[in-house]
Amino acid sequence: MSGSRSDSSHLPVMVTEVVEHLVTRPDGVYLDLTAGAGGHLRAFAEKSAGQARLYGLDRDQAAAAQATRNLRDLDQFRMIACSSYNRVDEVVGQFDDQTFDGILLDLGLSSTQLDDPGRGFSFRFDGPLDMRFDTESGGETAADLINRLSDGSLAEIIFKFGEERMAARLARAIVRERQKEMILTTARLSEIVRHTIRPPHQNKSLARVFQALRIAVNRELEQLSEVLPKVVALLNPDGRLAVISYHSLEDRIVKRFIQRQVKGCICPDGLAVCICGVKPSLKQITRRVLTPGAAEIESNPRSRSAKLRVAEKIG
Ligand SMILES: C[S@@+](CC[C@H](N)C(=O)[O-])C[C@H]1O[C@@H](n2cnc3c(N)ncnc32)[C@H](O)[C@@H]1O
Repeated sequence: MSGSRSDSSHLPVMVTEVVEHLVTRPDGVYLDLTAGAGGHLRAFAEKSAGQARLYGLDRDQAAAAQATRNLRDLDQFRMIACSSYNRVDEVVGQFDDQTFDGILLDLGLSSTQLDDPGRGFSFRFDGPLDMRFDTESGGETAADLINRLSDGSLAEIIFKFGEERMAARLARAIVRERQKEMILTTARLSEIVRHTIRPPHQNKSLARVFQALRIAVNRELEQLSEVLPKVVALLNPDGRLAVISYHSLEDRIVKRFIQRQVKGCICPDGLAVCICGVKPSLKQITRRVLTPGAAEIESNPRSRSAKLRVAEKIG
């Protein structure tokens, strides 16, 4: 793993398993739609030969620049584009290659982002309640949502994306407190959560509230649903898709998408003969979901919730 570490603050997750299942051709063309610090791409370079070509995408300008810096010494490296992955079909026009032998989605956020107080992703530091991956988009920040949405909408976000049972109580507390003064910092939001939830559950609730807001701010689940069919269209025959998710809602979207593509036919149950003509477009490569081993979890605790699924485009 140390050979694949391209940045001191973000370790690529399940890198051995991803490389083993995704990099099947030494001269292949590979794309990480979530380039981050470029750790997975560097590992792809280590597995492949000089003729392989590597591309990346990241929605975060700072991450795209960092990945470019970290990878530019590699012969196989081509470019990192700065964009959301749900626009990948447009973005590949900038690349010398438009189809790929392997595409990775390593969802969520990097340690570099989590540990930067200025990004507002973590309740462990004080900073502005921002949480946008793309800080130049002009889109709404977490503070905008917290101070604008009704308590019903806030409760829905916290319950649905954070799976937090106390969502309604937390949303009421947020709305009550923002009437006194706008909630603009991670420290202020954390204080409200700590006043609402009793120990020993406070840290779990804080993590869930912050995760829920991040998912809502970045429309993460919609973007994931949008990108998956685009990825299949961009794969060469026998090309592979690998997705690492860190949240049950993400993993459910990936699992169901792969199941539908493996099945193909969309006829109603009970028909004796298929009339839709939809053929399978993927086959499963990993029969079951893969998770990190104990050694990886010990050396990189942030990998503990990772789930990896791999599928192959039918040639
Ligand atoms: C877990 S990190 C990826 C780490 C990377 N694979 C590595 O080896 O360093 C996730 C990255 O995905 C990016 N990201 C999140 N949502 C995105 C989106 N919709 N489009 C493109 N990049 C996105 C984040 O900015 C972050 O840098």
